[in-house]
Amino acid sequence: MRIEVVKDYHGEYSMGAMGVRTASSEKRDAIFRRRVRSQYRVRGRHDLPWRLTGDPWLILVSEMMLQQTQVPRVLAVFGPFIERFPRPGKLAGAPLREVLAAWSGLGYNRRAKYLRETAKIVARDLGGRIPPEPGELIRLPGIGPASAGAIAAFAFGRPVPFIETNIRAVYLHEYFPGRTGVRDDEIMPHIERTLDRRDPRAWYYALMDYGAYLKRSAENPSRRSAHHARQAPFEGSARQARGLIIRALAERPLTGRGLARLSGLSAVRLGAILSALEEGGMIRETRGRYRIA
Ligand code: ADE
Repeated sequence: MRIEVVKDYHGEYSMGAMGVRTASSEKRDAIFRRRVRSQYRVRGRHDLPWRLTGDPWLILVSEMMLQQTQVPRVLAVFGPFIERFPRPGKLAGAPLREVLAAWSGLGYNRRAKYLRETAKIVARDLGGRIPPEPGELIRLPGIGPASAGAIAAFAFGRPVPFIETNIRAVYLHEYFPGRTGVRDDEIMPHIERTLDRRDPRAWYYALMDYGAYLKRSAENPSRRSAHHARQAPFEGSARQARGLIIRALAERPLTGRGLARLSGLSAVRLGAILSALEEGGMIRETRGRYRIA
């Protein structure tokens, strides 16, 4: 049997065989949960607009935006976006060009296309209703396990265990101090065991905010995850070039030459980027001009 020695925040030691609940490990979980909740009371982001709504569509939109974009950027775009697309049907019926224009500032534009595809499915096949179960949510375009869990918890109060970057940071800090290469499948049992089943929404908000705080600290615990990947530099990247091209084409169609002039890319590099965007269904070329698909 493997014996786990864990050191908690207050320097107390508790010992528990893996998978065996002992009085001390239960106490340790209780202390942890209290600390997360009290952190939330002190420095929680209680006024984020997607936390003040119960509308599953608005929560779904916010989760798609928050997947790869930081809160301040999402804050700048979320309000105008939901004003323009307050229901799935509104987004489903809009041209991709308009959706991309409203998405501008968030990056990773493919998410906007997936969101529109999800809106179409919801509007046409699901009577405008966002499904409440993670197993159904995950079948929608652009929604992975983390977003499915978050939407189920935030919009429907479902106590589902899920992990995303901030939550990962919290559990690395609390339950895996000093260890590197920690896999998510090691973390998940801790998330499941400590989940507040009465109020998963508030619990996960508290975890996310605590994790965001820890990641800004000197020892960013995320670096000890087996799944940690630092974001590649943006300057000079294909991602930057794709963003520039999509922004330009959202305004007007352009020729290859026009795009070359605008981007300053070599013909070979531009050609590769345009092919990839075409294959991904983001743009198309007709009569010598590129436009949003
Ligand atoms: N704050 C930071 N990330 C969040 C998310 N994914 N959902 C809700 N609030 C958040």
